[in-house]
Amino acid sequence: MPLSIDNQNKLDAFWAHCVKNQYFNIGYPESADFDYGSLERFMRFSINNCGDWGEYCNYLLNSFDFEKEVIKYFAQLYRIPFEESWGYVTNGGTEGNMFGCYLARELYPDSTLFYSKDTHYSVAKIVKLLRIKSQVVESLPNGEVDYQDLISKIKRSGDEHPIIFANLGTTVKGAMDDIKKIQELMAAAGFARQDYYIHGDAALSGMILPFVDNPQAFTFADGIDSISVSGHKMIGSPIPCGITLAKKKNVDMISVEIDYIAAHDKTITGSRNGHTPLLLWHALNYYTFEEQKQRIAHCLKMAQYTVDRFKQFGIDAWRNKNSITVVFPCPTERVWKKHCLATSGKYAHLITTAHHLDTSKIDELIADVVADMEPVVA
Ligand SMILES: Cc1ncc(COP(=O)(O)O)c(C=O)c1O
Repeated sequence: MPLSIDNQNKLDAFWAHCVKNQYFNIGYPESADFDYGSLERFMRFSINNCGDWGEYCNYLLNSFDFEKEVIKYFAQLYRIPFEESWGYVTNGGTEGNMFGCYLARELYPDSTLFYSKDTHYSVAKIVKLLRIKSQVVESLPNGEVDYQDLISKIKRSGDEHPIIFANLGTTVKGAMDDIKKIQELMAAAGFARQDYYIHGDAALSGMILPFVDNPQAFTFADGIDSISVSGHKMIGSPIPCGITLAKKKNVDMISVEIDYIAAHDKTITGSRNGHTPLLLWHALNYYTFEEQKQRIAHCLKMAQYTVDRFKQFGIDAWRNKNSITVVFPCPTERVWKKHCLATSGKYAHLITTAHHLDTSKIDELIADVVADMEPVVA
């Protein structure tokens, strides 16, 4: 039965709302500069990537070939030989973080997971779900982990195989935990590298750092054991998604043979979205490496513009190196609500995602923040 007139009207109204607000976002890391029109025809199919893209699957409508290419792309980006890695397209950064923590817990079942106060809220949930012992570590003012507190908490725990959850771009301040420094401090504390695990949460910055000239350490060659990246953030996607990548030998430990699907199960969910691998594959093939670099360079330029402009008005705005997240003092509720900003304690942030082709939205926000500070004349 076709939809009723009322229901059709409801959909039409929502369509108009989406069109009007397509580029509203300056407070969250979701980019809106994508065009997946050529993939719309696949919406008529029930595509399901249940299982491992590397194996035969009885369910014919899968997009495994595309998923494999996506994972191959990221293995190269994060500097791990493809044949030594395994990963998959997730529902987003949270699932990828859960996957990394799950692998670490299976490797070191009685260990503690250490994460900083600036870590995304989902990690506290993940440690609850996975029942991993955990300790929260202090953060530095710029959002990086407090390295001394991390090492002293690890030492005090007596853990032989600590699990370190490293932020490669925090949610609020875009801060990067220095995984080189962490490894140096761990070595000085007497830990051999193979005796502890580092998961990197690169939800947003995972698609920034590979494209800048002087990135902080973020790859497997730099020392991570697994990584999670969101697809709907820097890349941009109409459906939340992401990728997670890990060392194959660690993934093999959790792999279970399932007769019902005639394949191995090694992912967090059973049925998996078959459309999102297509979206990511499209996005990764849409830009050349050089074009992606230019797209990122534009976002970073806009971020620096924002910092400079705020400062011209005496407002203490700042950003971390290679970050498109500009932090500034939280304005009044009227202003942050008007601009749909994310706020955290005394801070708000603006994220210069790729759909900001010009500075108009940024200028509008800054003008409102400035007006908000000026004393009201009675
Ligand atoms: C640093 C960080 N990690 C994890 C997440 C969760 O990612 P997702 O929303 O894709 O699940 C976010 C989301 O904002 C994030 O900023």
